[in-house]
Amino acid sequence: MRNTDIFLDEQKYIFQTYARFPVLITKGKGMYLTDNEGKQYLDFLSGIAVNALGHCHPAVVNAVKNQAKKLSHTSNLYYTIPQVKLAKKLAQLSGLNKSFFCNSGAEANEAAIKLARKYAKENLGSGKFEIITMHGAFHGRTLATLTATPHEKFHKGYEPLPEGFKYVDYNDIEALRKAVDEKTCAILVEPVQGEGGVQVPAPGYLKEIRTLCDKMNILLVLDEVQVGMGRTGKMFAFQQEGILPDILTLAKTIGAGLPLGVMMASEKVSKGFVPGSHGSTFGGGPVVCEAGLAVLETIEKKRLLENVTAMGAYLLSELKKLKEKHPEIRAVRGTGLICGIELDIPGKDIVSKMLRRGFLINCTSDKVLRFLPPFIVARKHINDMIQALDSVLSEE
Ligand SMILES: Cc1ncc(COP(=O)(O)O)c(C=O)c1O
Repeated sequence: MRNTDIFLDEQKYIFQTYARFPVLITKGKGMYLTDNEGKQYLDFLSGIAVNALGHCHPAVVNAVKNQAKKLSHTSNLYYTIPQVKLAKKLAQLSGLNKSFFCNSGAEANEAAIKLARKYAKENLGSGKFEIITMHGAFHGRTLATLTATPHEKFHKGYEPLPEGFKYVDYNDIEALRKAVDEKTCAILVEPVQGEGGVQVPAPGYLKEIRTLCDKMNILLVLDEVQVGMGRTGKMFAFQQEGILPDILTLAKTIGAGLPLGVMMASEKVSKGFVPGSHGSTFGGGPVVCEAGLAVLETIEKKRLLENVTAMGAYLLSELKKLKEKHPEIRAVRGTGLICGIELDIPGKDIVSKMLRRGFLINCTSDKVLRFLPPFIVARKHINDMIQALDSVLSEE
């Protein structure tokens, strides 16, 4: 089949919810993807922060193959070994005892919102139901999570939206202090805003939110769907500040491309859910959980967090050098392997030009080029990408 046939069939048979680039990707290995004509692309996007081990990592491929041969689904009416093993490992790594498994980031946040409300009503006061979220946030596309995402473009047409959300500016602890009132049950925040344009808050911001939550007896919910499982250089971004949230959400990296989302909570807060409170048919199936275990083992065994820190610092410094040369770059931001450059022009054309040269990057918030390479990235890959970006920016 030619590309054009696939593109036409896609238009004919698939909801047109994505503005796709005209590339037909057929395989991937390590840092590279290959299209149907054999052209290679160096991946600085990781499927939007998913393929942290690169593509088709043997540890994940073997884990999936072996488990698929044994057992792929049972429903959550029965016990399975991989689910329990993954929950135990996540508890050991995070300090949060309990996991609820689902299939995506939005579902993990939906579960977090439900748990926060239910726990608060039963334990903190029946009038407490409101959740404070931040401008620039992205929490997902279900009705509750898109309401938690305070952006007109995600809300339009879906009204009436669920009640019980209030918004303040990100990285503004005073605004947050003022917003908390007798109705507040939780604060939901990303440690770094990915979709919001790679916004890295001031050091101490999360710690101050933790202190505020303790003082006001409300819950801290961290959305680490994009930056959790190592992208900041620590296994969890909250470990950068030595705090512990009450509820944590994960997805993306943990499943290495398989649909796996997790909502975690402290032992105390997890008691808000009892049998029947929440559920998922596919959540925590044996195949995806074996993939999750393989991801965690590989991150640890190969000491990938050290590479994230070292290569993240290198990438950021190289991007900063570009800023000296190209006046259209307004700012360079990042931590670990989530970096962004804010332009004073729309970034879409630059992304297309990079794609034509064989490099996958992305643009978020219209003017922010975002770089989310796999954790296995090496200096040579960074040098190649920077050289291409330098040439593309010079053409602008
Ligand atoms: C911080 C954050 N939360 C939630 C989501 C939603 O995840 P999903 O697309 O898996 O539903 C995303 C997706 O980009 C995200 O970046």
